[in-house]
Amino acid sequence: MKIRAAITGIGGYVPSSVLSNSDLEKMVDTNDEWIRNRTGIVERRILDIPGKATSDLAVGAILPMLTQKGIDPSEIELIICATVTGDYIFPATANIIAEKIGAVNAWGYDIGAACSGFLFAVVTGSKFIESGAHKKVLVVGADKMSAITDYTDRNTCILFGDGAGCVLLEPTNDDEGIMDTITRVDGSGKDFLIQKAGGSMLPPSHETIDNRLHSVYQEGKTVFKFAVTKMADVSFEIMERNKLSADDIAWLVPHQANMRIINATAERMGIDKSKVMINIHKYGNTTSATLPLCLWEWENQLKKGDNIILSCFGGGFTWGSIYIKWSYDSN
Ligand code: UT7
Repeated sequence: MKIRAAITGIGGYVPSSVLSNSDLEKMVDTNDEWIRNRTGIVERRILDIPGKATSDLAVGAILPMLTQKGIDPSEIELIICATVTGDYIFPATANIIAEKIGAVNAWGYDIGAACSGFLFAVVTGSKFIESGAHKKVLVVGADKMSAITDYTDRNTCILFGDGAGCVLLEPTNDDEGIMDTITRVDGSGKDFLIQKAGGSMLPPSHETIDNRLHSVYQEGKTVFKFAVTKMADVSFEIMERNKLSADDIAWLVPHQANMRIINATAERMGIDKSKVMINIHKYGNTTSATLPLCLWEWENQLKKGDNIILSCFGGGFTWGSIYIKWSYDSN
C-alpha cells in the first residue's frame, strides 16, 4: 500500500510589535490608502527584540504545536526550515531550531526558495515520509523579513512582516494527505527580486552597505505580472489534473504577497472568496511563513477529507502548488 505524508499538526507564531500603515507614513513618503488599495496590507508584525532571530520565531510556532500533540521533541527525526533570513549564513537555522527545542535525535537543513520556501519544504519533507525513511518530519517556514528590509525604500518596506508557521508530517496508509504537487523555478527572475549582496557574488563590503545592497530589491511591477499569471496557472493546473471542480475544493491557501494576486488566483480557479484564506491585512508578506500561518489560523475550520490547494509565487523566481486531502478534524 502506498504511504502518503499527512499534515497532522500546525503551529504559528507572530511577534507582538505591530508596524501599521500610519507608522510607515511617518517613515517614508506613503499613505494608508495607497498601501491598502495596492496591496491589501493594513499592518504587520515585527520582531524588534535585540538578540532574537528567525529561529526564535520558528520555536514560537513549534513548541506549542508539539505540546498540544503530546510529542516530545526527541521524537522528531528531521527538521526542514524554509527561510531566506536564516540566523546566520551558516550553520543552517534548522540546526539552531533543533538545539533550541531539544530535538536531540533530528537532522535538518534549510531551504531557500523565498516565498515558495514552505511549499517546497513540504514537498521535500513528504518524500522522506513516502519513502519510509522517516515518520516524524517537522517543516517550518520562518522569516524575520525586517532584518533585510530597507525602511527608507517605500517600494518594499510597506510589504513585509515577520512570522513563522510549522506543520508536522506523518505517514498514513489512507488515501489522504499530500496528494499531488507542482514545483517550478526560473532563475532569470533574479533580476527583479533579489538580495544583491552578502553572498559569494557580492560579499559584504563598505560599498555594499553604503549602497543598501543587503536589503530586498524588487521591481514590483514585473514581479506582479509574473506572480499573477504563474500562481493562477499552477493552481488551475493542479485542479485540472486531479479532476477537481471549484465546488470540490474546500479551501484555497494562497501566498500572501498582494490581495490583487490572491483575487486573480481565486478568480481563475472559480473559487468563491469565502473559501480563500486571507491574513495579508494583519501580517503583510511574511515570505515563507504565509501559508502555514493561514493553516494555523484556519485549523479549527478544517475537516477530514477537505480538498485544499496551497499555491505560491516567490523571488528567484519560484512557484508551485500542492493538493492536500485533509486528514483530521480539529474539533
Ligand atoms: O512575495 C514574492 C513575490 N512578490 C510579489 O508578488 C509582489 C508583486 N508586486 C506587487 O505586489 C506590486 O507591484 C507592489 C505592491 C509592490 C507595487 O504596486 P504597483 O501597483 O505595481 O505599483 P508601482 O510599483 O507600479 O507604482 C505605482 C506608483 C508609482 O508612482 P508613479 O511612477 O506612477 O508616479 C510609485 O512610485 O506608486 C508609487 N509608489 C508608492 N506610492 C505610495 C510605490 N510605492 C509606493 C508607496 N506609497 N509605498
